[in-house]
Amino acid sequence: MKILVTGGAGFIGSHTLVELAAAGQETVVIDNLCNSNRKSLERVAELTGREIPFYEVDTRDREGLNHIMEAHRFDACIHFAGLKAVGESVEKPWEYYENNIGGTLTLLDVMRQHGCKNIIFSSSATVYGNPAIIPITEECPKGHCTNPYGQTKSMLEEIMMDVQKADNEWNIVLLRYFNPVGAHPSGRIGENPNGIPNNLMPYVTQVAVGKRPELGVFGNDYPTPDGTGIRDYIHVVDLARGHVAALQAIERHCGCAIYNLGTGQGYSVLQLVKAFEKVNGIKIPYSIKPRRAGDIATCYSDPAKSEKELGWKAQYGLEEMCRDAWNWQRQNPNGY
Ligand code: NAD
Ligand code: UD1
Repeated sequence: MKILVTGGAGFIGSHTLVELAAAGQETVVIDNLCNSNRKSLERVAELTGREIPFYEVDTRDREGLNHIMEAHRFDACIHFAGLKAVGESVEKPWEYYENNIGGTLTLLDVMRQHGCKNIIFSSSATVYGNPAIIPITEECPKGHCTNPYGQTKSMLEEIMMDVQKADNEWNIVLLRYFNPVGAHPSGRIGENPNGIPNNLMPYVTQVAVGKRPELGVFGNDYPTPDGTGIRDYIHVVDLARGHVAALQAIERHCGCAIYNLGTGQGYSVLQLVKAFEKVNGIKIPYSIKPRRAGDIATCYSDPAKSEKELGWKAQYGLEEMCRDAWNWQRQNPNGY
């Protein structure tokens, strides 16, 4: 298939390009580089042995999208492009709604005008809010999102489902990611956060590399065995392969389909820190801080539907996630 990959220069997009190439799929990338660097695409070319056509275009740029869709006939789009920092979304709600929702509406419109009605969308476990059931199946009702970032994911899911309902030529796959971490085992591509990392694993690797003195653990009074929050961390290479598998749903004309991409296994903050220390032989100093606003105690997936319908199952465990996250950080202490 020929696939348009929006946000392909980013963390998950770059890893997905590698897996798509391994599966023999042809890709074209658009990215406005607002949270990424074209070096990631150079590294993808190095890993795959082929150049991927790249356009520095924004998803809100109708003219730009038209031009690209006239130049290529796409079978499907994998749509990663969007802003993703939870805290920033609370400060700048308009920017988040405009970029994530505005960009996706323009993309969907240009796609349908060019007869491409197949899309895989990056959603998030954040749409479950404080989950009503654990482990979380796709049947779990959506919950209240405490921030505009999460709202954009939840609203975009609804918008796309309505679009598909009105026109059943569309095939829409909503992938709800749990907590993507790690990096390609080569250490050539990985997560490259700007400024102070918001998420746990990049914070841990920055402590390991000496950029930050210690990790703050946000709360140890949750109703979990060690009191710290439990999440379903998933290796980014497994997550990337989930997108390759999701193309099968498009091929069999799924209409609208929702899949969790997680391992099904939850680990606490302290379990992750201990695993990182053990695998990499590095001490991670930490201190207990107050709970972070909006955090929940426990969140992990039931990935059975993805396995049954897509034949996809995460292969890597916490050890590989910690090993590869560190391998990337160690080789690239300042990112790209
Ligand atoms: P990322 O920031 O590394 O990648 C997103 C890419 O989109 C960046 O390269 C950025 O420059 C680009 N972009 C943003 N707005 C754009 C626009 N209007 N036009 C063109 N390009 C634009 O983030 P990521 O971690 O790779 O996440 C990819 C997707 O997965 C996002 O939609 C994110 O919300 C979603 N997601 C991520 C996580 C996570 O923990 N990383 C979890 C759940 C969902
Ligand atoms: C966060 C976002 C979520 C988003 C996801 C992926 C919030 C409330 N949620 O999820 O919407 O989809 O990232 O981008 O921000 N922790 C620490 N110290 C740190 C960082 C994190 O103790 O410095 C803890 C957190 O309290 C949590 C766990 O580590 O228990 C994981 O945190 P994080 O990596 O930020 O992911 P989520 O909060 O699950």
